[in-house]
Amino acid sequence: MPNSNVRPTDNLSSQEREFENTIRPQSIEDFSGQPKLVENLRIFIKAANLRGEALDHVLFHGPPGLGKTTLSRIVANELGVSIKETSGPVIEKPADLAGLLTSLEPRDVLFIDEIHRLSTVVEEYLYAAMEDFKIDIMIDSGPSARSIQLSISPFTLVGATTRSGLLTAPLLSRFGIKSRLEYYTADILQMIIIRAAGVLHVRITSDAAMEVARRSRGTPRIANGLLRRMRDFAQVLGNGVIDMDIVEHGLRALNVDESGLDDMDNKILTTLIDKFKGGPAGINNIATAVSEEAGTIEEVYEPFLIQEGYIMRTPRGREATEKAYKHLGRKKDPTNSTLF
Ligand SMILES: Nc1ncnc2c1ncn2[C@@H]1O[C@H](COP(=O)(O)OP(=O)(O)O)[C@@H](O)[C@H]1O
Ligand SMILES: [Mg+2]
Repeated sequence: MPNSNVRPTDNLSSQEREFENTIRPQSIEDFSGQPKLVENLRIFIKAANLRGEALDHVLFHGPPGLGKTTLSRIVANELGVSIKETSGPVIEKPADLAGLLTSLEPRDVLFIDEIHRLSTVVEEYLYAAMEDFKIDIMIDSGPSARSIQLSISPFTLVGATTRSGLLTAPLLSRFGIKSRLEYYTADILQMIIIRAAGVLHVRITSDAAMEVARRSRGTPRIANGLLRRMRDFAQVLGNGVIDMDIVEHGLRALNVDESGLDDMDNKILTTLIDKFKGGPAGINNIATAVSEEAGTIEEVYEPFLIQEGYIMRTPRGREATEKAYKHLGRKKDPTNSTLF
């Protein structure tokens, strides 16, 4: 079970976090989508269980809200072991990590969220633990201080990050299993919404679930958040059932973009079109213009815009596509065409 080492780092309110935990799938059967990743994981977990060994260290990377924390807990569940949860910025010094590591039972999972935010000393301390299940600890202090090596239980480190580009090569190489989470299709999100509605005991029609799914930016966290708001609209304005009327009204009231893009997506597209004449523009220039880190744009925002065909990556930079112009209701300046 999740323990008290977790400190909120993902900008969710405690209410939102509690809501997420209520509808979070506990078993691999209830986890929809990511078929390749799930299929591989099942095999690796089964093999580790058959051998009675700890699972290899696992890294989940990908944009926020796609299921990294959910999967980490599922891994522990499927291994039949306990999970200790913490996050990169919370582990301030090697001693904090040593405390966690020595408390693990054989095969337990240590989950480190935002693992890209580990300090260098802590990260280096982790290497020997991951590789040989050994740690150095200092005993005594002053002139008699010395370090002794201590064996710890074989364990599985599960790391999660939205910014795998910030991980060092030595850390990356110590993960035997590296899995990237992809955006979900509307079909899968529809299933996720219907399942969550079931857990919340709220009725939703399948067309309404599909409409919410289409406008959730490929992201289960957004889909579930919208479901929660639609439940309010249905309860107060309707008869409790979330149907097409409720969803159309609710999404309009919440200003949810027709295509499910969020504020930052629209800001990036507007910048690219208005400031850079549709591009090509370099990622650093775009980043400066929207006041965000270039790496965050590359790993968190841009993948969805590229996947959905709003932006193209060219050797000379990012270009807005016809779809982006259409989405913003802009006309493409014919003198800036890249056709010739
Ligand atoms: N594949 C999935 N099936 C069902 N629900 C999911 C799935 N992935 C994520 N969710 C739900 O979305 C929310 C966010 O998932 P989470 O694991 O916290 O994302 P991340 O850690 O990647 O930011 C949770 O409430 C979780 O229940
Ligand atoms: Mg998470």
